[in-house]
Amino acid sequence: MPSFPIADDYARARGLPSDLPPERPPAPILKGQAALVTGASSGIGRAIAIGLARAGARVAVNYRKSAAEADGVLAEIAADGGEAIGVQGDVSVEDQVEAMFARTVAAFGALDILVSNAGLQQDAAFDEMTLDQWRRVIDVNLTGQFLCARAAVRQFKAQGLRPEVSTARGKIICISSVHDVIPWAGHVNYAASKGGVMLMMKSLAQEVAPLRIRVNSICPGAIRTPINTQAWSTPEAYGALMDLVPYKRIGEPQDIAQAAVWLASDYADYISGINLYVDGGMTLYPGFEEGG
Ligand SMILES: NC(=O)c1ccc[n+]([C@@H]2O[C@H](COP(=O)([O-])OP(=O)(O)OC[C@H]3O[C@@H](n4cnc5c(N)ncnc54)[C@H](OP(=O)(O)O)[C@@H]3O)[C@@H](O)[C@H]2O)c1
Repeated sequence: MPSFPIADDYARARGLPSDLPPERPPAPILKGQAALVTGASSGIGRAIAIGLARAGARVAVNYRKSAAEADGVLAEIAADGGEAIGVQGDVSVEDQVEAMFARTVAAFGALDILVSNAGLQQDAAFDEMTLDQWRRVIDVNLTGQFLCARAAVRQFKAQGLRPEVSTARGKIICISSVHDVIPWAGHVNYAASKGGVMLMMKSLAQEVAPLRIRVNSICPGAIRTPINTQAWSTPEAYGALMDLVPYKRIGEPQDIAQAAVWLASDYADYISGINLYVDGGMTLYPGFEEGG
């Protein structure tokens, strides 16, 4: 388990428990299911791929360029006794998405779970944002979600129900963000992409629920990954971040992984079309704790 001195110091100074969540023993609640996790070579996607595998799923680990990191995820899953394959592909490119789904189904014989996690930021003040920055973020964060969800729904429809592994015909989890509802100055492209994911997810959930396909989003708050290093890597930045987090610790990738495992499982069978905020209360308007 890595140690995070800045977060530990912050907690200690306030008499709070360690900010590291304890390891939970995995339960095999996804046994026999096949999953594809996009953007699984780093951060949240990596933790989700490992979490799904520990819960018994066979996992396709998608990455775009970080082959060595994806290999590391495969090795970690194998060391745990799990089964996984690497599938390269850019989620914003239609034929690459089709190819990575085809590879996954060829390897596992089916697909039961898609976790559509790949995402990026290209930040700029609004009047300095280039059309390329706008397009790249929309292409990956929103169009990528569309292409992957469409490929998953086609596969779920073609393969039918697999009652031996799940009550649902298929599950799609979109990794969105608290910025699907919290406006974010300097990140207009990112917030627009995540806001788009919300109504794409809900409209799709409504459309495919009669087929017993469940579609939901997980909306992370501030999670310690390479995407947002500047927000947690100095004591000053970490302290300022905590003003936005009522629970007073940064989120760890495994916080999202645990939610994803549960949401993909039959324990969440009656849940469709929700945004599950995993954010330590960031969406509770912490500025009103003492104001208003
Ligand atoms: N960290 C947070 O605080 C936070 C909060 C809210 C929401 N999120 C969301 O959570 C998701 C994961 O973020 P993260 O923090 O884990 O970021 P990260 O550590 O930077 O990882 C991003 C992952 O996405 C992959 N990726 C990027 N562009 C891709 C593309 N076009 N096709 C396929 N894969 C691509 C990357 O693979 P390559 O390196 O191979 O390109 C990498 O595996 C994103 O959707 C992000 O918006 C994160």
